[in-house]
Amino acid sequence: MTATITEPRVAEAAVQPSSSPAEPLIAMRAVSKSYGSGVTRTDVLHDIDLEIREGEFLAVVGFSGSGKTTFAQLLAGLVEPDRGLITMRGKPISGPSPDRGLVFQNYSLLPWLTVRANIALSVNRVFRNWSRGERRDHVERFIEMVGLSHAAHRRPHELSGGMRQRTSLARTLAMKPDVLLLDEPLSALDALTRGQLQEEILKIWEEERQTCVMITNDVDEAILVADRIVPLNPGPNASLGPIFDVGLPRPRVRTELNHQEEFKSLRNAVTKYLVDVRQAARDKQAAGSDAPAIRLPDIRPQSLKLPRKAIMNSTI
Ligand SMILES: Nc1ncnc2c1ncn2[C@@H]1O[C@H](COP(=O)(O)OP(=O)(O)OP(=O)(O)O)[C@@H](O)[C@H]1O
Ligand SMILES: [Mg+2]
Repeated sequence: MTATITEPRVAEAAVQPSSSPAEPLIAMRAVSKSYGSGVTRTDVLHDIDLEIREGEFLAVVGFSGSGKTTFAQLLAGLVEPDRGLITMRGKPISGPSPDRGLVFQNYSLLPWLTVRANIALSVNRVFRNWSRGERRDHVERFIEMVGLSHAAHRRPHELSGGMRQRTSLARTLAMKPDVLLLDEPLSALDALTRGQLQEEILKIWEEERQTCVMITNDVDEAILVADRIVPLNPGPNASLGPIFDVGLPRPRVRTELNHQEEFKSLRNAVTKYLVDVRQAARDKQAAGSDAPAIRLPDIRPQSLKLPRKAIMNSTI
């Protein structure tokens, strides 16, 4: 069972702000980002300060539209901050690099290429000085790692959603990035496939141990995979909430976590934080609005289907 952050849960749990390491791999300092200008301007992120440690698994949780993709793209170097600075090993990030591999939210495979060719395209670009044989073996290793050997000859339209996302993951992993950025890689999948891929991602990370930042809207998923969870507060001008340390021992098994007290209290604490912060944002928005507050009745239609006769007589 998963708890998405749209479901309110109330519980008491202590939130422990975690300490900062001396040498972060990536540092975000007072980062802000808006899109557009004038009346079409959208203020997305504001004053983001975060340190990402070498080898950690960090999860960023937030509501839809809060700026999670923007956050991932800033780390990937695909968009630039308007203000503030992002550094990796002390040097400013000034564009995309194979050091930072991003798995996109929507499967971004080239539709005319097979699974194998999609992965090979990145491998050939990044490892130009390898021999052909080395590159071929490398591609096959990653196809196998994500369990797609039987489908390596297929094109994206011949794959299920889960298989497409496995291909995207293999393509990014095969570039051997120092930092793996996962922008809601599983959100479009059904619950069973999602659970299976969560475990596969975790297994791969436990073997490779590269730094990983996963964006998600699923609190359970964040607790399953992460060492630390950082909430992204609702926008506009979203900022980061307090960091939650996940002390649960690894390897973690999803079915067992559900019964652990630490898992339950952490899940309640993160969810409560997000629900409260969203309510506060709504209250603030309502207080700043000139329009009179109209309380809508809490009703639900029994059925959305109109009787045929009603449709025929409708003036619309
Ligand atoms: N290139 C762009 N130009 C203009 N506005 C943008 C652009 N990209 C994102 N936005 C706006 O920035 C805000 C945050 O978008 P973003 O995609 O980062 O949110 P998100 O949290 O990833 O959403 P979701 O959960 O739906 O994926 C939204 O209001 C969106 O419309
Ligand atoms: Mg997004």
